[in-house]
Amino acid sequence: MARRATAVLISGSGSNLQALLDAARDPAYPAAIRLVVSNRPEAFGLERARRAGVPAAVVDHRAFPSREAFEAEIEAELRTAGIELVCLAGFMRVLTAGFVERWWDRMLNIHPSLLPAYRGLHTHARVLADGAAVTGCTVHLVRPELDAGPILVQGVAPVLPGDDAERLGRRVLEVEHRAYPRALAMLASGRVRVRGERAMLLDERPGERLVLHPELGRRE
Ligand code: GRF
Repeated sequence: MARRATAVLISGSGSNLQALLDAARDPAYPAAIRLVVSNRPEAFGLERARRAGVPAAVVDHRAFPSREAFEAEIEAELRTAGIELVCLAGFMRVLTAGFVERWWDRMLNIHPSLLPAYRGLHTHARVLADGAAVTGCTVHLVRPELDAGPILVQGVAPVLPGDDAERLGRRVLEVEHRAYPRALAMLASGRVRVRGERAMLLDERPGERLVLHPELGRRE
């Protein structure tokens, strides 16, 4: 089966981009990363793309008079590269409903919480402030509403004694880096069906949509 041409949109470090690049090095992986787009020229993810030999484009939102104009430039980059699927990976710009609709069921996002809990920013600090025992990440299809949409994969990580937001964030990133490649593989291989805004997986195996942090197994 032809691998699905995928773009990854970033704003920063791009450690999730790296996880996707690493997974896609396997010729049997159903998606190929063909383009990286950053809205920030200094994003380290651009260097990761360069090292992986993947074309990268900077579309700096500050150079455009409106969100629509900014997105039109991103669309042009996606079209030129023949992109079929889009992964948002730490892309810190809100997308218009028009853009989201054009990529309906073809665009994924990763969010560092167990959605629908803790939408928005500063998730780890809020989890700690609530005294929660568990948190994680969610890979979902993108909808116009922020941090909402049919869920494909969730990763679960424990909150441990002595955690601060940074330490907890690092632990959540470990499950992010396993959850995102798995979710993209599901979408790229055509196994995802959306019914009533719930994602179903053809031939789903038990536990396939769940990534557990190794610390969880050491609790008992
Ligand atoms: C991740 O925590 C992701 O869940 C959130 O932004 C962060 C991006 O990290 N959307 P990175 O750039 O992939 O390292």
